[in-house]
This record gives sequence, C-alpha cells and structure tokens, in this order.
Amino acid sequence: MRFIITEDYEVLSKKAAGIIAAQALQKNDSTLGLATGDSAVGIYKNLIKLYNDGFLDFSKVKTVNLDEYIGMDMNNKQSYAYYMKNNLFKNVNIDMANTYIPNGLVDDLNLECKSYENHIANLGGIDLQLLGIGSNGHIGFNEPSETFKMHTHVVELDERTIKDNSRFFNNIQEVPRKSISMGIGTIMKAKKILLVASGKNKAEALLNAFYGEITPKVPASILQLHHDVTVIADKEAEKLISEKISK
Ligand code: F6R
Repeated sequence: MRFIITEDYEVLSKKAAGIIAAQALQKNDSTLGLATGDSAVGIYKNLIKLYNDGFLDFSKVKTVNLDEYIGMDMNNKQSYAYYMKNNLFKNVNIDMANTYIPNGLVDDLNLECKSYENHIANLGGIDLQLLGIGSNGHIGFNEPSETFKMHTHVVELDERTIKDNSRFFNNIQEVPRKSISMGIGTIMKAKKILLVASGKNKAEALLNAFYGEITPKVPASILQLHHDVTVIADKEAEKLISEKISK
C-alpha cells in the first residue's frame, strides 16, 4: 500500500491523473475502472488536459464504471452515464463502444449484473481501478453490511449515502434508493487500485478503512488485502491517520 498525501484537492487530482495516464501510456488498450462523484471530477479535468496537450491517446482504451443508479436514463443529468459523458468521454478520443456502465433501466437487473461481470472478465479484467470512498467507507456502492458482496449486484443505498448524494439533487426525496454496483470481488480482482479521498468528511472513513479491522462494515477495509493499492489523500482527509500514527 502506498499513501501519497497532498496539500489539497488540486494536487491530489493532478497526481491521480498522472497515475492513470501512466497506465494508459504503458498499455494503450488498458481497461480502466472508473468512478463518478466529486472526487473524480478534477482527475478527469487533468486527463482531458493531458489529452489536449498530446500526451494521451484514448482510442484503444476501454472503461468500465463502478456503478449506476437504477431506473435512470442516460440523458438524466444525475445518471452516471451522463456524468461520464460530460466529465470525460465527450472531451477525449475514446470510442464510446469501448465504454461500459451498468444499465439500470433493464427489466432483468440480475441478468444485467451477470453480464456486466462477464463483460469485465471478457475484457481480461481491470488494469487500474479508480475509487472514491464514501463517508461510510463504501467503495463503488458496496455499502456497510454483514458480508462482503463479491459480484456485481443490486444495492439498496445506505441512509448516509442517500444523505451525502442529496447534494446533487433538488431534495433528498429525489435521490434514487437503488443502484447496480460492481462487487467487492470485482474490485479486488483489478490489477491495480487507486483510491482518492479529499476533505474532512472522508477522514474517519479513511482511518477506519486503512488503520482499522478488515470488516464488511467498512467495505473499503478489504483493500488492505490487495497487493497494489495507491491511496492519494489530501491533508484534511488524512488528518486522523497522521494523528493516530503520531500518538
Ligand atoms: C461513484 C462511487 C462512489 C463514490 C463515493 C465518493 O461512482 O462509486 O463510491 O466514489 O461515494 O463520492 P464523492 O467523490 O462524490 O465524495
């Protein structure tokens, strides 16, 4: 596990984009596992800049996203498909046929989960998975639970996630209650993992995930068992960890 501490979100975003860029440069047909949310916005801005400056070529890159709300059309501004298109895909030379996001609109959601899992396997697995972390310790939408859910599955969102995500909606009632998410096993099979955390709202989750016991009650804690994890946290997110270490 590598920990990189940055002054702020801006530096975090540059460094994280650098790691993703290095992956795409070393293997131009990499499969990148992508995340949505506020933490990833700055990273995508930096990737777009690297593309515009001629450093990056996405023409052979493949992407698989962690999750999508159930019942949301890709033209809905709150959908993760819309987020990806606007924050990254439409700004780089990626082939949209090589981008995959779970489809939360199908009738048979269990079949969609199985096909998503098969699809990732057929791509040869994920070369580098980008993760944010929820204030409750979730990764993807793997919410705190009694067991780790291994495969892509349908999730009932946690109350804390609904509250956290309500900032993107007009009011909390509008936040979807269900999503499809890659499972913990799906994520753990990625060859490399890059987790980013910014702001004091993430400090407790980060401490519990990397300095606490490995438990499905803190889903990100499973990452302690992965052989190639890089965590980039800004000072505010890392504060409780440095306080613990200095004691
Ligand atoms: C998003 C995802 C979530 C977010 C997490 C942090 O695709 O899977 O796990 O990464 O909720 O969200 P932000 O970055 O908005 O704080």
